[in-house]
Amino acid sequence: MEFDFLTPIDRRQYPSQKWDRYAADVLPLWIADMDFSAPPAVTRALAERVAHPVYGYAKPSSSLDDSLCDWSREHYGWEVPRDAIVWLPGVVPALHIASLALTSPGAGVVTTTPIYPPFLQVANKTGRLAQMAPLAEPLEPGGPWRLDFEALEAAITPETQLLLWCHPHNPTGRVWGEEELLALAELIERHDLLVISDELHADLVVDPTARISPWPA
Ligand SMILES: Cc1ncc(COP(=O)(O)O)c(C=O)c1O
Repeated sequence: MEFDFLTPIDRRQYPSQKWDRYAADVLPLWIADMDFSAPPAVTRALAERVAHPVYGYAKPSSSLDDSLCDWSREHYGWEVPRDAIVWLPGVVPALHIASLALTSPGAGVVTTTPIYPPFLQVANKTGRLAQMAPLAEPLEPGGPWRLDFEALEAAITPETQLLLWCHPHNPTGRVWGEEELLALAELIERHDLLVISDELHADLVVDPTARISPWPA
């Protein structure tokens, strides 16, 4: 079998955010950072690249664009044009860059809480105004968190320009339904907001994520 999820791997020999944060007798389950091997194909490709001794300024290969376009077509039915792709070092930097690029200084940036913590810093770190709308708590233990449209409306002001959205939602695990997304789309259009949707976990969803619009023409 190519994939090995069973052999325990000690990561303490290299600095790691996960394993260096707490005392040695604490099992650090605070971060989504796995302790099994990377896929062999990834390790092979990296080893091949590292074997070439010059590490100058690189750029994403065109096959990376191809992979993203093929994946989007196969999984989401989206024809993503190559010139719509901007490669960035990570999702969190992308949230900050989007805030800077797409809103004006002092603009309101709204998000729902609880939320993956870096979302909460985007507005302050980019000179925008942080606006928070709490989600509605589950009606019974273990039930789903829900979108609270009243709270969202109350958090939005004339200054609001951007909604930072997360789907599937970290930390509640919610996969938003089509009805919720349609109602959200109506609210967004009414307030003329832009949406940055962090869909980092989309490929883990068993039932496909609701798609309420095609790739824009
Ligand atoms: C919702 C969400 N977005 C972004 C990230 C991190 O993304 P990146 O490492 O690409 O900045 C995480 C990591 O757990 C996450 O849960």
